[in-house]
Amino acid sequence: MDMIDLRSDTVTQPTPEMRRAMAAAEVGDDVLGDDPTVIALEERAAELLGKEAGLFVASGTMGNLVAQLALLGRGQETIAGRQHHMVLDEAAGHAVIVGTSIRTLEERPDGTLDLDEIRDAFRDPTDPHEPITGLVTLENTHAHSMGQPISSAYTAAVAAIAHERGVPLHLDGARFWNAVVALGVAPTELAGPADTVTFCLSKGLGCPVGSVLVGSRDVIWRARRGRKLVGGGMRQAGIIAAAGLVALRDGDAGMIERLAEDHATARRLAEALAGIPGLLSPGDIAQPGDGPLDPNRVRTNFVLFRVDRDRTAFLDALRSEGVLLERFPHGQVRAATHVGISAAEIERTIEAIGAALRATGRDAVTAATPA
Ligand SMILES: Cc1ncc(COP(=O)(O)O)c(C=O)c1O
Repeated sequence: MDMIDLRSDTVTQPTPEMRRAMAAAEVGDDVLGDDPTVIALEERAAELLGKEAGLFVASGTMGNLVAQLALLGRGQETIAGRQHHMVLDEAAGHAVIVGTSIRTLEERPDGTLDLDEIRDAFRDPTDPHEPITGLVTLENTHAHSMGQPISSAYTAAVAAIAHERGVPLHLDGARFWNAVVALGVAPTELAGPADTVTFCLSKGLGCPVGSVLVGSRDVIWRARRGRKLVGGGMRQAGIIAAAGLVALRDGDAGMIERLAEDHATARRLAEALAGIPGLLSPGDIAQPGDGPLDPNRVRTNFVLFRVDRDRTAFLDALRSEGVLLERFPHGQVRAATHVGISAAEIERTIEAIGAALRATGRDAVTAATPA
């Protein structure tokens, strides 16, 4: 049986056009600075986001890590959301490699941090007890709030607070392009207030590998040194960068505008799930409270929910129906739509979820059991 894989938008296969571009890519030794395809990708990314320079890195995690290496000194501190990927899911690279602490703030259901709390989170640089605040970071789209896109006006307000205190703003834009498409803004506008932005090629844009970090020439030079330090200097990396250049093409030739289709399929899925007994709102900041899933919370390509029965039994039953979904924190289940999922497969997914619920019953009610 062909599985419908909605576990993540990272499961995509490169398009035939990407495979052709990769096979034909002109390459060189990128550590020596002479891979023309990598250089073209870095320039294209910088141009699209309105920054001076770009750096091709192996992953979103590496993009965040080298941004921190470029922007922070040992013993400094970052202000971030408690549920940011950088805080929860990057093996504490900030502590292990960068030598910094993170001061976390609770995110709100729209994925933002309270502006007054950000102001209050800055340390007193005259107090020798305290670390020195060196960075503020935002995540856009914000994963744990069910992929909420964060506006450029809010990003500018956070940047103003940081910049008044001489501190840069980094944007973890793993799904930056989903935010651009959902908000209908220019990428330069959304990236503009931030000093550095990293975005993933290997998620919704469908590339096999890689992310790009953009920022000023000086910061990107420091990030390049950081990339070497963590072993991320790749040689004929143009082979993989070539797929990124396809993804970043304008219009239908690229992979950005089509993200709107993923948002539409996610919304369709949520609308159908909202009416199914046994399926609950995701709770936590994704949709606070109990009750049915609210499809209006689905703004990009994530659908989160809980079930009123044993989650593992439900996911196993769903797998036997040919659909893969992912366990997510807070007892949630995640479906992430992507280029490999058609509208017809969403309809099959809805039927399969109904069948899996019928197959599992609600004897073992563990809906609120945390992950
Ligand atoms: C918000 C966010 N940031 C960063 C990353 C890291 O990306 P990668 O898996 O490429 O290291 C992810 C991955 O899922 C993510 O969701």
